Amino acid sequence: MLKEIFKPNPEFAKDALIPSMDAYWKLQNKAIEDYDGFWKDFADEKIEWLAPYDKVLDESDAPFYKWFTNGKLNVSNQCIDRHLETKANQNAIIFEGDKGDVEHITYAQLSQRVNKMANLLKNEFGVKKGDRVVLYMPMIPEAAYAMLACTRLGAIHSIVFGGFSSAALRDRIEDAEAKIVITADGAFRKGKPYMLKNVVDEALTKGAKSIEAVLVVKRNFEEITWKEGRDHAYNDLIDAQSDVCPFEAMDSEDPLFLLYTSGSTGKPKGVLHTTAGYILWAQMTMEWVFDLRKNDVFWCTADVGWITGHTYIVYGPLAAGTTTLMFEGVPTYPDAGRAWKMVQDHNITQFYTAPTAIRLLHKTGEDEPKKYDLSKLRILGTVGEPIDPHAWKWYYETVGNSKCAIVDTYWQTETGGHMISPLPGATAIKPGCATFALPGIIAEVIEEDGTPTPVGEKGLMCITRPWPSMIRNIWGDPERFKKAYFGDCKKEGKAVYFTGDGAMIDEDGYLTITGRTDDVINVSGHRMGTAEVEAAIDEHNAVATVAVVGVPHEIKGEGIFAYIVLKNPEDASEELKVAINKVIKAEIGAIALCDGIAFVPDLPKTRSGKIMRRILRSIVKGEEITQDTSTLEDPSIVAIIEGIVKES
Ligand code: PRX
Repeated sequence: MLKEIFKPNPEFAKDALIPSMDAYWKLQNKAIEDYDGFWKDFADEKIEWLAPYDKVLDESDAPFYKWFTNGKLNVSNQCIDRHLETKANQNAIIFEGDKGDVEHITYAQLSQRVNKMANLLKNEFGVKKGDRVVLYMPMIPEAAYAMLACTRLGAIHSIVFGGFSSAALRDRIEDAEAKIVITADGAFRKGKPYMLKNVVDEALTKGAKSIEAVLVVKRNFEEITWKEGRDHAYNDLIDAQSDVCPFEAMDSEDPLFLLYTSGSTGKPKGVLHTTAGYILWAQMTMEWVFDLRKNDVFWCTADVGWITGHTYIVYGPLAAGTTTLMFEGVPTYPDAGRAWKMVQDHNITQFYTAPTAIRLLHKTGEDEPKKYDLSKLRILGTVGEPIDPHAWKWYYETVGNSKCAIVDTYWQTETGGHMISPLPGATAIKPGCATFALPGIIAEVIEEDGTPTPVGEKGLMCITRPWPSMIRNIWGDPERFKKAYFGDCKKEGKAVYFTGDGAMIDEDGYLTITGRTDDVINVSGHRMGTAEVEAAIDEHNAVATVAVVGVPHEIKGEGIFAYIVLKNPEDASEELKVAINKVIKAEIGAIALCDGIAFVPDLPKTRSGKIMRRILRSIVKGEEITQDTSTLEDPSIVAIIEGIVKES
């Protein structure tokens, strides 16, 4: 870890929204002393209420917390309509295509397109409040229109990342019992067309019977198969729609969207976010963490298929009335300077990405940032995994020219928005450290029984008070919700939210995230449950048992390594490894491909049959085995596996 501390640039801090730690503590102390009052002030200031709420926080059915009970609002109004009086001609979205094509979409245009899309969904497909709509979309503005059109009607969207396979898409459609899928023929990546519609077709032939219609946006105009009666062309239908579609008055606690994410056990969980609390925190964190100012152009490089894309490409920026950039392509194509050229061309003021992308950009083009004018940049953000000192230093010095604040934002799909992050005008930054909980967030490093973990030791990262944008439920599985998030830690006898991450607090009160404490691995900043990958590998006929662990990876942060016991050891071959990866691709998608596979005669199991994953993790990292192996059914297996891994 870099020992140096980086104080906020005074030039920048003087105009910042939260300009000092005193200002931070003023806010945080208000939250500590008067929690409801703190949130009430912001809810009243930020949200255009259609009907007032009667209670800030209802804890009577914990952990099913309710915020701003009986209030009425609409997120599409919050993100579009209420800005029209002052911002009609300001860019809401700037879109850059893979091939460099650029489109500027003003708030007035966004309004027209979202209203038309909402009318299309309503009039042609009967989409109404509470219906589930699955989006399987590329990074094109229509993805944002579709999200906002759903919120206008009160329909619940569930976006499935375009890298997921047809089987994964089908599972998510079936779990949510979605009524329609919105997709595209495909899009462009690295100069070439790629396809999405065929994946939807495949998902629907094998199940997903709830789907009544598929709405297809034509983007790359490649040939696609078409099922008459089920498939509908967006491009042919949209123009005829009226651009006036009144928005639904939604209850604060009406569902806003579902987003599936991996857990340590079982199938992916449909994380449910609701209306008022989510949009409030999306807007507040957008303003505070990125210190939003007039004329800013914000670029978050995530995909809309992940929570970062939901909150910081679409909802946060638009609720805050800023300009958000959407990019279809990859930041290293046609060359390693692409991202920096875009920062220059669009006058980007905040650039928000994942450490994995920073490592890739660094590796492929160390000096590329120097070729472009990046002088408009004020804030650089990172998200998704801890950032290593090497990447941090390059980001700070070469990209940020040693004058931009770096905000290392810690949060999760379940938290809806940032939880722990520096504030660019206030926090002195320790590289690799997420620093302090944001005002209003009560984050504590504790033991399972609620005792504070001593300074400098690893404990459990808990958010000990409910917050507005928190997960409300797991779709269709309230018991799993309680167990997964409120089953591990208690404070003063009351169940508190446990993130699944470990953390450490230092003598200055700074929080450092030390990584997951469960069997979830973090591949390129994306969560992957080992159980999910194991279930996919198990689908291959040759496999008897399998254990999957994370392995350090130069670019991805963590890669996936599988120890596989074959039914017939003689089947072991390089071809079989390829075939197993093919099964993973079909079951989950290319993001879950194994970086390494070792065929082993057995796994290290205790006498009760529990696989000792810690040993497997140590072996693949080449670490000395310090764990007690005497409890293993067959201790000699450890040396055998070590030998095989060394050889492979
Ligand atoms: O382990 C933490 C890690 O990513 C997990 C959340 O993953 P996901 O729900 O996919 O959301 C990713 C984008 C918000 C967390 O449990 N994580 C996220 N941000 C950081 C992080 N680890 C360290 N530092 C971060 N800044």
